[in-house]
Amino acid sequence: MSTEGLVSQDDGVSRESRVSTGDIVAPEDAASPRDHATPDHAMSPEDHLSTDDLAGPKSRVAPEDTVSPQDRANPDHATSPAGRVSPNDAVPREAKAPVGTPGAPRFAPEWLLLREGADAAARAKDLLGPLRHRLTAAARVPGRRPLLVRDLGCGTGSMGRWLVGRLPGPQRWVLHDRDPVLLARARTGLPGAAADGTPVTASTHTGDLTRLRGADLAGTALVTASALLDLLTADEVDGLAAACVAAACPALLTLSVTGRVALSPADPLDAAIGAAFNAHQRRATAGRRLLGPDAVASAVGAFRRRGAEVRVRPSPWRLGPERAALTAEWLVGWVAAAVEQCPELAGRADDYLGRRLEACAAGGLAVVVQHADLLSLPAAPGGET
Ligand SMILES: C[S@@+](CC[C@H](N)C(=O)[O-])C[C@H]1O[C@@H](n2cnc3c(N)ncnc32)[C@H](O)[C@@H]1O
Repeated sequence: MSTEGLVSQDDGVSRESRVSTGDIVAPEDAASPRDHATPDHAMSPEDHLSTDDLAGPKSRVAPEDTVSPQDRANPDHATSPAGRVSPNDAVPREAKAPVGTPGAPRFAPEWLLLREGADAAARAKDLLGPLRHRLTAAARVPGRRPLLVRDLGCGTGSMGRWLVGRLPGPQRWVLHDRDPVLLARARTGLPGAAADGTPVTASTHTGDLTRLRGADLAGTALVTASALLDLLTADEVDGLAAACVAAACPALLTLSVTGRVALSPADPLDAAIGAAFNAHQRRATAGRRLLGPDAVASAVGAFRRRGAEVRVRPSPWRLGPERAALTAEWLVGWVAAAVEQCPELAGRADDYLGRRLEACAAGGLAVVVQHADLLSLPAAPGGET
């Protein structure tokens, strides 16, 4: 049986994604003026994605703590580490505990798990064909099996739970994050077998992924990431692209926000909240200017400048009554970020949020949150295509 459309059930997260889009009416563009400055020319026709959909020192490889498939158990999703308050990606109502970069937000595992089903449903499956083709060729090169996959900013391991069973043959995953608590969950939650039953092992690397260079990726068959790019700066994305291309390593970088959100029914305040939220995503924090909705265009440019073939596909969340808990949590974070960015919205935003949460609880709200998935295929050194 094909595994397309299926996701490992071992994490207890619902994978149902039968949200009708028929009743979702795209309201006015909620993007900020900067969204419209997204460089259209970075996308080629073969991307099949309209521009509307887009809106130091080297790392040291720490000793990796390898887990065999049989050692794995389901992560304990119910336990909330002290000090974390359910954050939205863009609005970490965070505990700013030291997890590497000073002031870096921590992501609550509860939030990452809440979104996992919507993420799985949203991922662009048609990027898998060309990726599998490349990996199958790579696996024929002596010494390249098992395939070494690095999941950057893995969080609790959502990407691995989705991707392991969709890739061919034995795999060795290295899970990268700066948060050891999330890494521990990711390591134990990775499926132990590929689609063909061959073994998959997991190890972790704690550290700042923006320090990875080409030499660190030597021998890596695939770099992957999910919900990461928009948290980075242009220089960091450029460095990541440089490292991947230098190592001739394909990259599957998924679920980057594009700044476009559509709520149905529409509300007069949607556009103002959306624009303020996008400005918040592009904020400067701790000396870093985050890319937010500009991440995909930035990454496309960075890979293509280095000669990589790049494909981009839309990967929207489609949130309806079946995902009311996620929708409510997303709404709270979306509005909070908008108000943090534009405090003058506060009074109206309170009323707005109340109306939206009420509609959500009553099953009367549908939301489409646009994201994009990117596949970069650099020229292969051995000539494999
Ligand atoms: C939005 S979460 C996504 C987690 C996971 N990929 C998923 O899709 O559920 C972003 C993750 O990237 C990690 N992260 C962000 N910037 C990082 C950096 N510079 N170095 C290491 N990890 C980073 C965070 O700790 C967090 O786990």
